[in-house]
Amino acid sequence: MTPTKAVSTHEFSPVDDSTSLLEVTDLHTTFHTPRGELRAVNGVSFSLARGETLGIVGESGSGKTVLSRTIMGLLPREGVSVDGSVVFEGQEILNAAPKVLRALWGARVSMVFQDPMTSLNPVMRIGRQIAEPLRLHLDMDRKEAKATTISLLAQVGIPSPEERYGAYPGQLSGGMRQRVMIAIALACAPRLLLADEPTTGLDVTVQAQILDLLSSLQEERNMAMVLVTHDLGVVATRTDRIIVMYAGHVVEQAPTATLFSAMAMPYTEALLGSTPRIANPSHTRLTSIEGRPPDLTSLPKGCPFAPRCHYAQDICHNSIPPLVPADEPDHFYACWFPLGGRTGPTPPATTVAPGTGSVLTPLTSESTNGVGSGAAETRT
Ligand SMILES: Nc1ncnc2c1ncn2[C@@H]1O[C@H](COP(=O)(O)OP(=O)(O)OP(=O)(O)O)[C@@H](O)[C@H]1O
Ligand code: SF4
Ligand SMILES: [Mg+2]
Repeated sequence: MTPTKAVSTHEFSPVDDSTSLLEVTDLHTTFHTPRGELRAVNGVSFSLARGETLGIVGESGSGKTVLSRTIMGLLPREGVSVDGSVVFEGQEILNAAPKVLRALWGARVSMVFQDPMTSLNPVMRIGRQIAEPLRLHLDMDRKEAKATTISLLAQVGIPSPEERYGAYPGQLSGGMRQRVMIAIALACAPRLLLADEPTTGLDVTVQAQILDLLSSLQEERNMAMVLVTHDLGVVATRTDRIIVMYAGHVVEQAPTATLFSAMAMPYTEALLGSTPRIANPSHTRLTSIEGRPPDLTSLPKGCPFAPRCHYAQDICHNSIPPLVPADEPDHFYACWFPLGGRTGPTPPATTVAPGTGSVLTPLTSESTNGVGSGAAETRT
């Protein structure tokens, strides 16, 4: 039968629940490529409470994986610059020394990657891949690490865990490999799990099983989770809050129910479909949006979505809309002409048609991505 030692909540060291677990501030990640500076993450800020689930959603290439890897400190050492701040449990970890990061990975923060086949070592038995971090971080002896590993394999729903302990990744199905990845990520009871498209390439039934498994393990362990996905069903039903990314920017941010009931951004509307409902069937795919995302080596001068936006006006092509608060609590958006009859932010400088209040001429000044407030022309 399944052995004894499971990593459980009572073994976690005590934490100060009053502070947020993760604070990301004005994060920028730029790759130095032969084509020029590729700005993959552009001034992203958010915080995450203990035990909270945050969804990060956006089209392919919007910067979701680069953002997750920047937070984890898992970018290539050469050819990339990062700027801003990532504070985890009160400690700055952006650009931290490799020694600091190694102590953090697995033990405090873990990541489930997009593709388990490239993340697992194909020539190492899966049992050893789980047991090694237990020995390293939790100082277990060989016997204890093996017993804990077999227990973890059972917890993530791998049948006959004693037998599977000695299997190689190539001997398992895609769903089983993803379960192994989750077991590795959870082995040392991290406080934060970054799950980057954890169900890519799996069939719908297995996707649901893996996501349910993640949710139940998260709840059991009071672990915070960042769920990176482009799947509407996943973020609608399994997150507390959602961040919508476009071209490396946060363009909308809201509690999950608010985002679906009162979205403000035309991009979010296009992304989530014309009549999104929180009760949409799980795993509804995002509708594809007309046009292509911008080239991140030469971002447009104004709103990055302007070339594809049905509501774009002159100002959109010339000035980046700041992230501003909506009426609903904890809801922010970055759009000059938000949905729902809202009044947009105040443009930095305007030329107004006498007597009409309408913005006539394009703006030339570059705006910031900071939080602002005020009133502009309302989209009709
Ligand atoms: N090592 C790298 N060097 C140069 N550019 C990179 C590198 N890694 C990612 N990028 C670029 O950064 C941008 C954001 O990529 P990222 O992988 O974060 O997108 P994503 O939102 O995760 O997309 P997907 O949904 O397809 O996984 C893309 O333009 C990508 O080509
Ligand atoms: S700022 Fe303009 S282009 Fe950008 S999403 Fe809003 S309406 Fe569309
Ligand atoms: Mg990705």
